[in-house]
Amino acid sequence: MEMYDIEKIRADFPILTREIYNRPLVYLDNAATTQKPRSVIDSIAEIYSTVNSNVHRGVHRLSREATELLEASRETVRRFLNAEKASEILFTRGTTESLNLLAASFGEAFMHEGDEVVLSEMEHHSNIVPWQLLQARRGIVIRVIPVTDDGRLDLDAFRSLLNERTKLVSVTHVSNVLGTVNPVEEIIRIAHAHDVPVALDGAQSAPFMPVDVRALDCDFYAFSAHKVYGPTGVGVLYGKERLLELMPPYQGGGEMIGHVRFSGTTFNELPYKFEAGTPNYVGNIAAAKALDYVSSLGLERIRAHEESLTRYAVEGLREIPNVRIYGHPSSLVSFNVEGIHHSDVGVLLDHMGVAVRTGHHCAQPLMERMNITGTVRASFALYNTRADVDAFLSALRKACSMF
Ligand SMILES: Cc1ncc(COP(=O)(O)O)c(C=O)c1O
Repeated sequence: MEMYDIEKIRADFPILTREIYNRPLVYLDNAATTQKPRSVIDSIAEIYSTVNSNVHRGVHRLSREATELLEASRETVRRFLNAEKASEILFTRGTTESLNLLAASFGEAFMHEGDEVVLSEMEHHSNIVPWQLLQARRGIVIRVIPVTDDGRLDLDAFRSLLNERTKLVSVTHVSNVLGTVNPVEEIIRIAHAHDVPVALDGAQSAPFMPVDVRALDCDFYAFSAHKVYGPTGVGVLYGKERLLELMPPYQGGGEMIGHVRFSGTTFNELPYKFEAGTPNYVGNIAAAKALDYVSSLGLERIRAHEESLTRYAVEGLREIPNVRIYGHPSSLVSFNVEGIHHSDVGVLLDHMGVAVRTGHHCAQPLMERMNITGTVRASFALYNTRADVDAFLSALRKACSMF
């Protein structure tokens, strides 16, 4: 493992030298997407320059090399999540597609009219709307774990939601708004005691903490590579083999078939059954480079680094009058300044070179629960520094003084 040398790390990310309105970029919108290290950016050009060729189909050398790299990247993801088999790793376009695949295919296999899925009030829309689409098709029932006033899942309410019609629990591991790290071990234990499988939306946990799907014993886990320093358009759905084997394909086309006849088609084995068409092999291989980068630093250290920056930011925010902080800041902190609209805060910060996210963060039911229209969110990554936090706080103080 290399030293956590922040200057050396920053030098790996070309975009961090950019200036915004003649000020150094302070990028604090990492929960939306992270910046990419040189190794990831270069790998994309290198693949196109050296091995580009469609995978799995060709007998020729280039195709074999591209296929080997793609399957090696699947193995990298397997290791990253400590899954038992690489065939349990499905490549998708992102967390959103992973969750749509899950809802469509798990729903088709296991859910009938009146069956229930348990979600939570702090879900991203991508873990709500696919279930509503299934609801419209199949007449399933959506149950919702409430969020407490202090921004946690109400586990007593969760227990009372489980019954013989519950077929799946699907919740976020880490909230993209509140920062709350949910007690997923306990949620999984409770759900499994009722023989109910659990899916985790790992969009915010994969970049932030080590995830061991076998130790957690979760049944599904979804994340996006672009939030873990990888390219856009790449996602992962981990699923236990036993369940994936029973689930039908999500899309039809090339690669996912065994044999096609007009009288009926057989399907390929895992994971290809779920990967119709030419995969984003260049993106998948580059995503593995990103996971290698993260693993070489170590997620424990990345988590400690981000938590320390968040604590520092929270301390500073507490000293600014009329700032209200929400939830349980971890790698991100959400807040509002009384009397100033969140988007105005965001625009003023932008003019001072500080990129933050504002709005409902694709979590409108949570906004409704908190009786707000949105928040300002500063989210940290492995390359952020205390100087970034200082610049953010000083810009925020200046913005507040303008009102
Ligand atoms: C908790 C959570 N779930 C799901 C998503 C959706 O991820 P993507 O847009 O990469 O599919 C996000 C991204 O903002 C997220 O934060």
